[in-house]
Amino acid sequence: MILVTGGAGFIGSNFILGWLGRTDEPVINLDLLTYAGNPANLAAVAAHPRYAFHRGDIGDQALVESVLQGGDVRAIVHFAAESHVDRSIHGPDAFVQTNVVGTFRLLEAARRHWQSLPAGRRDGFRFLHVSTDEVYGSLRPDAPPFRETDRYEPNSPYSASKAASDHLVRSYHHTYGLPVVTTNCSNNYGPYQFPEKLIPLCIHNALAGKPLPIYGDGRQIRDWLYVADHCTAIERVLADGRPGETYNIGGWNEQPNIDVVRSLCAILDEEQPRSGGGGYAEQITYVKDRPGHDRRYAIDARKIERELGWRPAETFATGIRKTIRWYLGHGDWVASVVSGGYREWVDRQYGQ
Ligand code: NAD
Ligand code: TYD
Repeated sequence: MILVTGGAGFIGSNFILGWLGRTDEPVINLDLLTYAGNPANLAAVAAHPRYAFHRGDIGDQALVESVLQGGDVRAIVHFAAESHVDRSIHGPDAFVQTNVVGTFRLLEAARRHWQSLPAGRRDGFRFLHVSTDEVYGSLRPDAPPFRETDRYEPNSPYSASKAASDHLVRSYHHTYGLPVVTTNCSNNYGPYQFPEKLIPLCIHNALAGKPLPIYGDGRQIRDWLYVADHCTAIERVLADGRPGETYNIGGWNEQPNIDVVRSLCAILDEEQPRSGGGGYAEQITYVKDRPGHDRRYAIDARKIERELGWRPAETFATGIRKTIRWYLGHGDWVASVVSGGYREWVDRQYGQ
């Protein structure tokens, strides 16, 4: 079986749903259920015979070791993190605790577990570390997209904490021989994304008649990837990625934020026209820029294509329409997340 950390978050829950659908292998989900972890994302598989959930902190080494020993774990897919740049600017502490110290504790638990495996199973073990393209810093307009060999230049507390965790993961391979692989992916969008991130925030605000906040001039560029494509890329890396290697994952889809929001408004105009008339783009509002805002990210995803045969299945046009339809069909999910209703349920169900 595999152990997924952070499986109740946006990408982790998409990964677990895909994994249970596509493979026959059991999965254990270890998640602390912070504000970003939502058990409702996995309601459809809560009683699945190949799914088990543990609430806990990746930084609790004893707990992680007991989970690893209790199951016959042959791989860890590590998603758990604090993931929102704006939150990292207001409160970097949790980012250092979870992303750096937490990943370190998880690596320690993984190393002990791996060393306890029979010799014949050690080579097949994998620690797959899910990271971000933001570790490479900001690209100039004419610079080629990020390659795996580019130097790290993280600019926010979030990206710095992810960069630190990437270095720790690398060192556990180099020093101890732990079979690790790291993926650095571009911005994801799709079902179950918490409405603090640009795309779900704008869908939610558009429908609620609220402003769509665009930071600065809106010309910052991101390389958007549909979340299901990220999940299939991780599956490919887990299956055939070479230990000690890193793989960049991206959508070949660079777009300025303002274009993303305008496309989103145009699709919403078709799918659910505004009740008072006019287009949703009328709600676009330019606001104060994010401090230290990176200007451009873009991924060169040729290595994963060449070595592992992966390419995204969705274009932005198909992925964004699917995403908007999902949010339109899941108003109850959005309402409970936004109202804090699910947090109350988490506290009732799992205690503080
Ligand atoms: P998310 O914030 O939606 O989910 C994070 C999950 O981790 C939540 O379920 C949360 O409860 C859990 N968690 C947080 N701290 C924990 C701890 N100490 N112990 C156990 N669980 C804990 O994040 P996401 O957007 O799904 O991102 C998942 C991973 O992918 C992160 O490592 C992130 O850096 C990386 N990534 C995200 C993107 C993106 O666009 N969202 C892009 C590239 C890489
Ligand atoms: P975000 O979804 O927070 O991802 P990241 O900062 O990790 O790339 O933001 C994506 C882009 O959208 C980023 O350039 C910041 C911008 N943005 C806005 O303009 N307005 C917003 O309200 C948010 C949340 C983000």
